[in-house]
Amino acid sequence: MIQFGIIARNFSSSSAVQSAIKNVTVIGGGLMGSGIAQVTAQAGQNVTLVDVNSDVLAKSQKSIQNSLGKVAKKIYKDNPQEAEKFMTESFARIKTSTDPVSAVQGTDLVIEAIVENIDVKHTLFQKLDSAAPDHTIFASNTSSLSINEIASIVKRKDKFGGLHFFNPVPVMRLLEVVRGSETSDTTYNTMMQWGKSVGKTCVACKDTPGFIVNRLLVPYMAEALRLLERGDASARDIDVAMKLGAGYPMGPIELVDYVGLDTTKFILDGWHKKFPDQALFKPIAIMNKLVAEGKLGVKTGEGFYKYEKK
Ligand code: CAA
Ligand code: NAD
Repeated sequence: MIQFGIIARNFSSSSAVQSAIKNVTVIGGGLMGSGIAQVTAQAGQNVTLVDVNSDVLAKSQKSIQNSLGKVAKKIYKDNPQEAEKFMTESFARIKTSTDPVSAVQGTDLVIEAIVENIDVKHTLFQKLDSAAPDHTIFASNTSSLSINEIASIVKRKDKFGGLHFFNPVPVMRLLEVVRGSETSDTTYNTMMQWGKSVGKTCVACKDTPGFIVNRLLVPYMAEALRLLERGDASARDIDVAMKLGAGYPMGPIELVDYVGLDTTKFILDGWHKKFPDQALFKPIAIMNKLVAEGKLGVKTGEGFYKYEKK
């Protein structure tokens, strides 16, 4: 029987599936990059986590420690010593850096999880392409951009693909593995195998906007915001309705706060530019206003709801 995320969460400490990948560089230590670094380290691989400055990296490390604590408690509930060992060893496998060029020396896989902007991603990958060893695979965790378009800037197009994780990465069991038009069979198979090695269930998808999950989930979240914008229902009632009426673990407005209003806006704006006639992708004024005010959701302490500062 297939078990779904909320029923059987993935809290594996290590995986029986082995991968040829031993050293991984994760670029971007925000919501997603921190989680990707964590699950990689939990699987016994060495990780270098890169971000723009040491303050951001200190925040990433704090969030990884918190999350490792939750995972350890779950796996080793009756064995505090093993829990402590698991946390210490996993955390020790994660190095941090503010220099992407030196961080990719000797790495087997680079996973990019920086801001959802094609120009910024191009600048990064162009720099990495000349710095990383020839065998290194490049992957983007993009939510909505085309893998082919991101890969257009590098020479190693056969070694480029999409590895799309879900938030919170240590909990959500899915990994979408995306093949670009030039991704080689070897690269694709290595990415699939690697995904399994970090305990994820992998699904394959072509390079289409939003792949599988976001093509369905983002229009759903956008429609919920339009209900709110029209005054058809309150945020709370929309969220309660989808949790109790449709069995979702979070309501759609809560989910926008959880994903980040900036990221959700970047996704919608990108698709709107590409498909201006598609009503589902039209800009949403109430969300854009909050983004302009710096209210980006859980990560800034306020979005559509307010959160206690962690
Ligand atoms: N790390 C480790 N463990 C965590 C965690 C984290 N960051 N967050 C939660 N957990 C654990 C908790 O410790 C708890 O464990 P126990 O069951 O042992 O107590 C368990 O997960 C449940 O957590 P909570 O009790 O705090 O809260 P919850 O039951 O509401 O679950 C949730 C939280 C897992 C986030 C759940 O609400 C959920 O599944 N929400 C939907 C998330 C979702 O849809 N994600 C996809 C977003 S879209 C995306 O990611 C793609 C994109 O490109 C935009
Ligand atoms: P975030 O804002 O939490 O983190 C992004 C991090 O990247 C920040 O810490 C920022 O300082 C860093 N950064 C930006 N430019 C950089 C650069 N040039 N070099 C190094 N670091 C840089 O964003 P996020 O939610 O983690 O999203 C990251 C990527 O993952 C985006 O492409 C997003 O679409 C995708 N994604 C997001 C979610 C989600 O639910 N938030 C889910 C799946 C995929």
